Amino acid sequence: MKRKVTVVGGAGNVGATVARAIAEKELADVVVIDIMDQKAAGVALDIYETCPIIGSDSRVIGGGTWDAAAGSDIVVITSGKPRKPGMSRDDLVRDNFEIMKSIAPKVVEHCPNSIIVPVANPLDAMAQALYRLTKFPRERIIGMAGVLDSARMSTFIAMELNVSVENVHSFVLGGHGDTMVPLPRYSTVAGIPITELLSKERIDAIATRTANGGAEITKLVGTSAWYAPGAAAAEMCEAILRDKKKILPCSVFLQGEYGIRDLFVGVPVKLGARGVEEIVQITLAPEEDAALKKSAGAVKELVDVIGM
Ligand code: 2OP
Repeated sequence: MKRKVTVVGGAGNVGATVARAIAEKELADVVVIDIMDQKAAGVALDIYETCPIIGSDSRVIGGGTWDAAAGSDIVVITSGKPRKPGMSRDDLVRDNFEIMKSIAPKVVEHCPNSIIVPVANPLDAMAQALYRLTKFPRERIIGMAGVLDSARMSTFIAMELNVSVENVHSFVLGGHGDTMVPLPRYSTVAGIPITELLSKERIDAIATRTANGGAEITKLVGTSAWYAPGAAAAEMCEAILRDKKKILPCSVFLQGEYGIRDLFVGVPVKLGARGVEEIVQITLAPEEDAALKKSAGAVKELVDVIGM
């Protein structure tokens, strides 16, 4: 049977990018939902019309209602206000929480067995809101952040060392905010930790640029990024739909792992058909652990603002 992915907020830039990537890889049929129902129908039709060119039999439909979403395997939630230049992701917390409150009951009603991939910002707090509102098991709510942040770090490492991005594996943990935790010791080029290849000054500069990666794009473009966030969400969908057991950094509800409890924070997880199939625990140095706890503290402050 064909798999199905629903992209909520799919008429927006990030949502349309996710929808297109899923159709392009023929991972599933795609349902594009948006309160801008006519635009959702148009975006979906435009993506559908690329399928004969790229040789994909994914069917892509769109609109404002949830009927077509019934029985989706995955619901990617990209709805929400984007950032404007100068805003932090955290400035969106109240507005985007209201949007999550309107979406959660629809997911429960139409897609009760789905895996939810939250994408809206502030990411970890919105994932936590969706977890509390839907009451889905924690294995089925997997926030997209670490894949994006690690991709940014990998890009900067590849630029710095003039090597193929395929040689680079980066590791970024923590909340998807200014306190995110790039881990140089676990970031490698062809298996070699970057601490062996770059000076501390260059690594610090890469870590800072990674943490500011979203703001850098927002300043240049005038709104939030979409190509890399969309590709990151699509990679997570692929890992789930193909049951790849792929280890990716994602925001998940921790219950004691890494010494953090009852909070969504980015850590490495194994993604497969059941969603989060394992939370991978690695040993952190004291300063790395302190940075992760600080980042978790920043997520907790936001979660407290919305009472989740
Ligand atoms: C970013 O970092 C939109 O949060 C997203 O670009």
